[in-house]
Amino acid sequence: MVRPAALPSLCGLLALQCFFLLGAAESSIGGGEVQFAWVPSETCVDDPYDPRWNCQECNQFDSKCLVCKAGYSFDTQNRCAKCWNPNCLTCGRAVAGMPRANTCILCKGVPDSDPFSYGNPNYPTYKNATGWCLKCTSQAANTGCLQCDGTGARCIRCNDGYALVRGQCQRCGGGEQCRKCGPDLVCTECRAQLYPPAYGLNQAKECVPCASQQCLDCNANYKQCKKCMDGAVGTGQRGYGVNAAGGCSLCADKLCGKCPTSVSKCWACLSDDFKPFYPYMDPSGACKAGTVPNCLHYTPAGACRECKAGYKLDGGRCDFLPKCRDVNCLDCRGDVNACRARGCRDGWWYSPTLKLCQSCGISKCASCNTQPRARCDRCVAGFGLNAGKTGCSKCAPQSPEPQNVPWCQRCDGNTNFCTLCFPAGQYKPNALGRCVPRA
Ligand SMILES: *[C@@H]1O[C@H](CO)[C@@H](O)[C@H](O)[C@H]1NC(C)=O
Repeated sequence: MVRPAALPSLCGLLALQCFFLLGAAESSIGGGEVQFAWVPSETCVDDPYDPRWNCQECNQFDSKCLVCKAGYSFDTQNRCAKCWNPNCLTCGRAVAGMPRANTCILCKGVPDSDPFSYGNPNYPTYKNATGWCLKCTSQAANTGCLQCDGTGARCIRCNDGYALVRGQCQRCGGGEQCRKCGPDLVCTECRAQLYPPAYGLNQAKECVPCASQQCLDCNANYKQCKKCMDGAVGTGQRGYGVNAAGGCSLCADKLCGKCPTSVSKCWACLSDDFKPFYPYMDPSGACKAGTVPNCLHYTPAGACRECKAGYKLDGGRCDFLPKCRDVNCLDCRGDVNACRARGCRDGWWYSPTLKLCQSCGISKCASCNTQPRARCDRCVAGFGLNAGKTGCSKCAPQSPEPQNVPWCQRCDGNTNFCTLCFPAGQYKPNALGRCVPRA
């Protein structure tokens, strides 16, 4: 990362095109012209969140911008200028005679290419034959159209709860909780829920709450549960499973935290933060109480695999970790004045000669245990390693602030290409490296 204080006049010395944007009025969607005021900057700032610089990725050796951030592209002087068309997600480089970045490559609000469309799914745009992104005219905003054809006049893809009927998205019948229906608008599927109440279809094809209170999926028939809720983490509360009558009852195994599809089939044992001994699952699928003090996770054979925070696994036991003199050392058992190998916290490496932890010296680097030390092995969550492994840069945003869900955890090699999303259980990267909901 090129820090302004470290290289105050690099751009000037190398006569690079280093500018930053001052007071650029944020163009609202569909809004009018944007006012620009370019002034040369002292340094290039490659932090994509720095408002002075609209560069997504900067070459850290010559401070030239490699990739502009979303909605910006290079103008004829290699500065990142806002796409002329406010509906562009990405636009092409400006050319002589067309001084501002103009032709749209991707349009805003198009599913699978625009991550922000998931936070704002009812803003459909399309690209016309000359590369302009225009608002769909097929129907009003927020009436279920997700994507329209190249003329804008026909919708081709609808949001959940809508069906495509002759180029228009129409609301499904069956009530608010209906997720899917055919062109006859009769509801065929209700919305999935993370917490009860969940909804299922009754005989009249309306989405009504599941008959069982602990049910999370009774989609086809509100009286027949397919999946019941788990126990609450950290409370020792047993999970629920489907019983013989199609309702939900507590898991048959008293130490089971998760048996969603059947009371008699345990998927995971309780993780009870208040118990001195944590349960584990033996090879037969039964939950057994652990026997090692301060052990968090066991092998199926009952040996400790991982200790609680503040303890270290050693010879099958969990040893208490004393407070170390070196604040960056987490493991100094035997001598609080000297750190043990592999005992340093994220962002610090262990020096065997000093027996102390030394900083990686790379901002947002979590681990630098390989030689040479000027290289980083792994960045902290939300940052990606550059190609030379000499720095960590923030992964491109995947959703608008302030919710910022999903966000990208891993983007090594290309901050615009996410390889691990958060929450990983709900989002995964698509072929373009964007975080999209798991099916
Ligand atoms: C695309 O839209 C722009 C802006 O409205 C317009 O100037 C251009 O003529 C359109 N191109 C075509 C082929 O319709």
